[in-house]
Amino acid sequence: MKLKHAALIASLALAVPGIANAADIVIKFSHVVAPDTPKGKAAEYFKKLAEQRTKGRVQVQVYPNSQLYKDKEELEALQLGAVQMLAPSLAKFGPLGVKEFEAFDLPYLFDNYDEVHKVTLGPIGKQLFSKLETKGIKGLGYWDNGFKNFSSNKPIHTPADLKGVKIRIQSSKVLDEEMRVVGALPQVMAFSEVYQALQTGVVDGTELEPSNLYTSKAYEVQKHLTLTGHGYLGYAVVVNKKFWDGLPADIRTTLEGAMADTTKYEIQLAQQDSEKALAAIKASGKTQIYTPTPAEKAAFQKVFKQVHEKMADRVGLALLKQVEQTTGYSAPK
Ligand code: LMR
Repeated sequence: MKLKHAALIASLALAVPGIANAADIVIKFSHVVAPDTPKGKAAEYFKKLAEQRTKGRVQVQVYPNSQLYKDKEELEALQLGAVQMLAPSLAKFGPLGVKEFEAFDLPYLFDNYDEVHKVTLGPIGKQLFSKLETKGIKGLGYWDNGFKNFSSNKPIHTPADLKGVKIRIQSSKVLDEEMRVVGALPQVMAFSEVYQALQTGVVDGTELEPSNLYTSKAYEVQKHLTLTGHGYLGYAVVVNKKFWDGLPADIRTTLEGAMADTTKYEIQLAQQDSEKALAAIKASGKTQIYTPTPAEKAAFQKVFKQVHEKMADRVGLALLKQVEQTTGYSAPK
């Protein structure tokens, strides 16, 4: 009797298109960095949890290393529905017209991960996600990478050392201004092009954080690395909103749970990976690592404060005031 019942339910499921389709939901998750980065590992972790917990009703296909799309294209592909999930760095939402995300690019906005999390995992993070919805994008979580440092073929100890140095940046007006206030020459470039651009001298330096510098092998073509820790690099995990809203409710809830657990895993992993990458770069002997003195670091902080003043209108002074209330950072007046 029980068996008959099960067979009846199974045949009904096949007859109802929504349920039958639920057996083959495919999520293409595209990203631009190596599989052995925090983002790459977390994407695989999410795949594992999502497939296990939906008992195979969902399949997640992870495409690393810009195999499918470079930085700018991947967001367009998400909006068009060619891929369903991404985790672009927060800087990359500026060109989409959501300029508030560029606030995360302000140099020395955060002193540590705790301050970052007060913002990303609190009301400000939610508020920023709501701005993505008009673009057909839904935010599911914030992931960390780490803090950026300057690398170059010449030693950079003070802001003056950056004058005239061609530095690759992500496409962000705030990062562009950060370079201009120290007289560096910013060059916007997709992440996948950085190694070759350094190798051929199209740019002289980068502002990457350790795991991307290491796993992209960019450190092999950079003689010097200065631990300025001057900017935060983090990600928003996003999905195509129409796709997400169209999922069966139970699947969506299960995937939200898988994402929440993946985020916990990713946040721990990012800190460890940054430290490991730095140790590996050091051990390679290819790049000389320099820790600025407190006075040198203070000089970077002072000059970069101007970027906050100049960009307050762009990213929103009200948002910076909210960050001030949340972390104790001192926003422009
Ligand atoms: C970069 O372009 O430097 C980073 O955003 C790449 C990434 O996704 O970590």
